[in-house]
Amino acid sequence: MLNVVVLVSGGGTNLQALIDAERRGELHGGKIACVISSREDAYALTRARQADIPCEVLLRREFKDQNAYDTALLELFKRHQADLVVLAGFMTIIGDRVICEYRNRMINIHPSLLPSFCGEGYYGLRVHKAVLERGARITGATVHFVNEVCDGGPIILQKTVEVLDDDTPESLQTRVMEEAEWHLLPQAVSLFCQGQIEVCGNQVRCKPMEQQEDSI
Ligand code: GRF
Repeated sequence: MLNVVVLVSGGGTNLQALIDAERRGELHGGKIACVISSREDAYALTRARQADIPCEVLLRREFKDQNAYDTALLELFKRHQADLVVLAGFMTIIGDRVICEYRNRMINIHPSLLPSFCGEGYYGLRVHKAVLERGARITGATVHFVNEVCDGGPIILQKTVEVLDDDTPESLQTRVMEEAEWHLLPQAVSLFCQGQIEVCGNQVRCKPMEQQEDSI
């Protein structure tokens, strides 16, 4: 079993999707070992506690600089023997040292089809507002590896969602979560934990199971 450490800051609906998938036995090869929150009042922590998952709270303001914060984050990853780190709505900046140490072992979910509507300032409702303002007919969600470029790492999975004429940022956000995010994230974690993901430069290949068994 690989240890999955999930980083959260808010409501934690994506964390809930992972918890539910694990309960259903669909997080093949993976176990949520710990949830780390950047806020004490994140509802995601309640979800984790209800599921008996160990929780940690790491407040950026308690560290003098990025380096000290990164050291604490790395210590927590080590303590919980993280094989995979999942950013599920995590709103605190992670330094390059952590990104480098967990290269191709840290994934993020973004609520648009990368490389559109991403980068600095594109988070939460702002993403969906920008999609509507641009008049896009299709949006969706993306799970990608984290690298030094904001929302710029290798893409693992994407799913499209139709934009409707009467959508508001709120209604679009809800549909993107329901139709895309909550399915993609457990699927990507499961693929990773089964060793089915291969990264080559910026490209990701998902190996079929037979090929994986052949190579053992
Ligand atoms: C999601 O829309 C996710 O794509 C983005 O942050 C939001 C987190 O929502 N990175 P939740 O806390 O999982 O409900």
